[in-house]
Amino acid sequence: MGNVADRHVIQVLRDGGGSRANVLRIHRDGEDQVLKDHAGCDPLFAALLGKLLTRREARALLKLDSVAGVPRLLGQPGSRAIYMEWLGGISIKEALAQETDWPRFLAELENTLSEIHAQGVAHCDLRGLSNILVGPDQTPYVIDFVSCFFSGARWNFIRGWVFRRFCEADRQALLKLRQRVAPESMNAADAKLIAHAGVFNRAMRRVGQGTRKVSLWLLTRRSGSRSGR
Ligand SMILES: Nc1ncnc2c1ncn2[C@@H]1O[C@H](COP(=O)(O)OP(=O)(O)OP(=O)(O)O)[C@@H](O)[C@H]1O
Ligand SMILES: [Mg+2]
Repeated sequence: MGNVADRHVIQVLRDGGGSRANVLRIHRDGEDQVLKDHAGCDPLFAALLGKLLTRREARALLKLDSVAGVPRLLGQPGSRAIYMEWLGGISIKEALAQETDWPRFLAELENTLSEIHAQGVAHCDLRGLSNILVGPDQTPYVIDFVSCFFSGARWNFIRGWVFRRFCEADRQALLKLRQRVAPESMNAADAKLIAHAGVFNRAMRRVGQGTRKVSLWLLTRRSGSRSGR
């Protein structure tokens, strides 16, 4: 990792290992920030995929700089690490234990997701829910763009088609969340969409899970089932 002498660790948000980066809350430049460092992954994984994943997340955060609820990119201390804005917030699970205005939260989250898509980024990892946070005043935050997909050039119809399918999968993930936290707010069209989740979405999910398992098996010392990713 590059120059980290100026950082002061406040909290370990995610311990690295396997295919997972170290994610730290740090104090830097007079404010709380997040350091996400793929050097924390298993060495082979870090060497082969660390740079690629970091580059992808940094590119996404730059593209989404104007979108409220997405952390701003604050620097790149090396080819495998980024600094980003610390947003705070609590997990969906924690918010479920509190009084939360879910219909309002979901409406704002849908707006945020539309803005993300409008900037040419599909998130592709919203199903697990750990990448959505509930901020103060119940503002939605969307983090972790490591698995994202970019829309590409206008003339690239195939990529454009795939991009739209990934956007659809993102929206489906939000519908699943709505079904879980505010089922009474689902309308008939929502229920139908969930029941008929596209063949493409399921296929892409299987491809994603398969690729992850193979790369974990090849590039880390852990099995895919243990690291869960
Ligand atoms: N910018 C941020 N602001 C606030 N919290 C953050 C931020 N980035 C990450 N976190 C916290 O750190 C956790 C891990 O970050 P991230 O999702 O980027 O890594 P991960 O390896 O995918 O972990 P996970 O499997 O939990 O999603 C998040 O679930 C969140 O609680
Ligand atoms: Mg994550």
